[in-house]
This record gives sequence, C-alpha cells and structure tokens, in this order.
Amino acid sequence: MARINDHYRKLQAGYLFPEIGRRVRAFQEQNPDAQVIRLGIGDVTLPLVPAVVDALKRAADEMGTPEGFRGYGPELGAEDFLIDGILEHDFRARGVELEKDEIFVSDGSKQDSGNIQEIFGQECRVAVTDPVYPVYVDTNVMAGRTGDADDQGRYQGILYLRADESNGFVPGPPDAAVDLAYLCSPNNPTGAVATRESLAAWVAWAREHEAVLIFDAAYDAFIQDPSLPRSIYEIEGAQECAIEMRSFSKRAGFTGVRCAYTVVPKALTGTTSGGERVPLNQLWLRRHSTKFNGVPYVVQRAAGAVFSPEGRKQTGEQVAYYMANAGLIRDGLGGAGFTCFGGEHAPYVWVRTPEGLSSWDCFDRILGGAHVVTTPGSGFGSAGEGYFRISAFNSRENVEEAVARIGKAF
Ligand code: MLT
Repeated sequence: MARINDHYRKLQAGYLFPEIGRRVRAFQEQNPDAQVIRLGIGDVTLPLVPAVVDALKRAADEMGTPEGFRGYGPELGAEDFLIDGILEHDFRARGVELEKDEIFVSDGSKQDSGNIQEIFGQECRVAVTDPVYPVYVDTNVMAGRTGDADDQGRYQGILYLRADESNGFVPGPPDAAVDLAYLCSPNNPTGAVATRESLAAWVAWAREHEAVLIFDAAYDAFIQDPSLPRSIYEIEGAQECAIEMRSFSKRAGFTGVRCAYTVVPKALTGTTSGGERVPLNQLWLRRHSTKFNGVPYVVQRAAGAVFSPEGRKQTGEQVAYYMANAGLIRDGLGGAGFTCFGGEHAPYVWVRTPEGLSSWDCFDRILGGAHVVTTPGSGFGSAGEGYFRISAFNSRENVEEAVARIGKAF
C-alpha cells in the first residue's frame, strides 16, 4: 500500500487562485451576460515585446540548424550570455558583484521559492510575514516542517510576523530564534516596499542569529524610486545571509514563457547536524542539476533580449503602463472613499474593505455588484482579513471601467 505524504492533509482548502476561479465560474454560469473584469491573480496581459519575440523566433530558427541545435541546458540552467546579462544589468549596474556560479536560472520563481526549503533541515524554524505569498507557507507544510493549522489557518511551528498599517506592512525581524525568514519586496500582496534601513535591520539580525533570509524580488522592476534597494545584496553583508529570487514574469511578461533565477552566494553557509559549515551554493547546485535540465534555449534567448537596449526600453514601457494603472486604481478607489495602500512601487494595490466587510464577503460583493474579480486579503493569511488586493495587470480601459464600477457598487 502506498502511504501518502500525510503533511499534504494539513493544507487548508485549495490554493487561493483556483478557489477564486471556482467562484468566478459559478458567477458566470448564473450571469452569462456579465462582462467580468479580472484584477485578481497577478497575471500580465500585455503581449511580449518585439525584442523578445524576435529573439524567440531567431532562436527557434537556430535550433533548426545542425550548428545551432542544442539539447539539455547547462547545469546552472542557462548559457553564459544570459547569466552575463543578469550579472551586468541586475547587479553590477546597482553596485553588486556576484559570480556566474552564484546564479541559477530556472523556469520560475514560484518553483524556486517553493523548492528552496528542500536544502534545509526538517527542524528549521520558519518565519513568514502575514499576509504572505502562500507558496512559502504551503511548501513548508508539504515538507512536514509545521504542525496543523489553527482555526485561522495559521500553522503550528511557523512564526507569523504581522504586516499591518502600524508598520507600513513591512515588519521588522522577530525577537524569537528563527532559522529561515521569507521576505518579499516589493511585496505580494500588500504592494509595500522595504527601505534600505529595513533591509539592513533584517541583514544585521540574520547575521547575528545565523539565520538565512529568502528574499523574493520578483517585482523589483516596479520600484519607481531609484534610491530604494532592488536587491538585498545592495545591503552590506547580505551575501553571507541571504538567497534572492528574481523573475522575468512580471518585468517582461514571461508568466507563460517561464524564466527566473535564484542567487545563492558562495559565502552563504548552513550547518550540518554535526556542526560543520557547508556552502548552501553546493547544495542548491546539487538539487538544481539533479531535478532540472535547464531553461529551453529559445526561452534563454528571449530572456537575454530583455537586457538588450530595445528590450530594456520596451519592457520598461510595459512596467510604466502597469504602474500608471496602479496609480489609477489608488486614485480612483481613494476618491471613492476606499483606504488604499501599495501601488506606488508595486503592481498591487491593497485596499481596506469598506463597511467592516470580511475579505471574502467583499470579494463576493465586488464580483456580484461590479463584475470585477479581486483577491480577498484573508487568502494571504489571517492578518489580510479586512483587506482585498487589486492587480494593475490589465488594459487601461478595463482598469478604468473596473474602478468606476467598484465605486458605484458601494
Ligand atoms: C499573484 O497573483 O499573487 C501572483 O500572480 C502569483 C504568482 O506570481 O505566482
């Protein structure tokens, strides 16, 4: 008899977005004429930029020639041209020096942020913010690093750091001993962004407590203020205590193309049960090369084109388009009496529910009254109760229409 992994049975209901999809489908079956606008899941809507499309086509042609054909990818997940582009544009341009074999290219930050916990011991104590991107929590539950969930959906054994209006949705490090702490800036779901000072406090804390920070920077391209840190490695000492994840999904419309990378600096170590220090880079390399065969060559070329002068200009215009949407959401809903947060350095606006509604009641009311899909804040954790998230990833027309409809529905 094949025993299942019992830890999966601790997981709460379904993953958030399938549950939203189920409710939206039920609504549409009952209201087939409703023109539903989707500002729920943070999925991009603009097409790939021309520089990326050209690179995809050229790479496809290359793969059809004897000289240009490639099979399995390299063990770091991509060829030098892409890793060199990453090092130059995402790090060196911001004063950060990393080495090639510290960059692991993959098919997505969702996977990487879910898989990274595999290289850590079962007994590691995990801290997350609340609200939080559910993948960090669920993958630790699946791995058996938690107990059961309580009636608010909080798992025993995880330390939840409340992100609320009192701390600007950017909690500081805990007093308690923790081994792994997940941070996301710009933040999904609240849209808050960490300052240099707040990241410096986290780095100092991690170094003092020998903890590892798992820093998810999937939305870094949406930061508007150049003085705000885009990478945790802009903070001195971070290479000794932090792993960072970056993605092409939101910055270049790759949610369906799939390319991302994880940085595991060689200076970063963990300890064995016997107390010996081991570089985490070696463990992640072992995992990556055992479980992954590299990003498809055509996708590598597409990602590489994001760093070309045209690619930077064209993807920069897309980011600006979405950020203008975020501004319209903030201003429009703010003008309609809603209290809004985020949306200044992130494609998400975090909104307090009106009239004391619960997050899901507000979701249903906006879906039923305005035919707009949002994301209930409580789906990201109990501290998200009383909020909803609106994504700026849609057309200008749909965003304007959605904001007007939501304003009228209350
Ligand atoms: C979200 O809506 O939270 C994101 O699209 C999820 C993701 O990037 O996986």
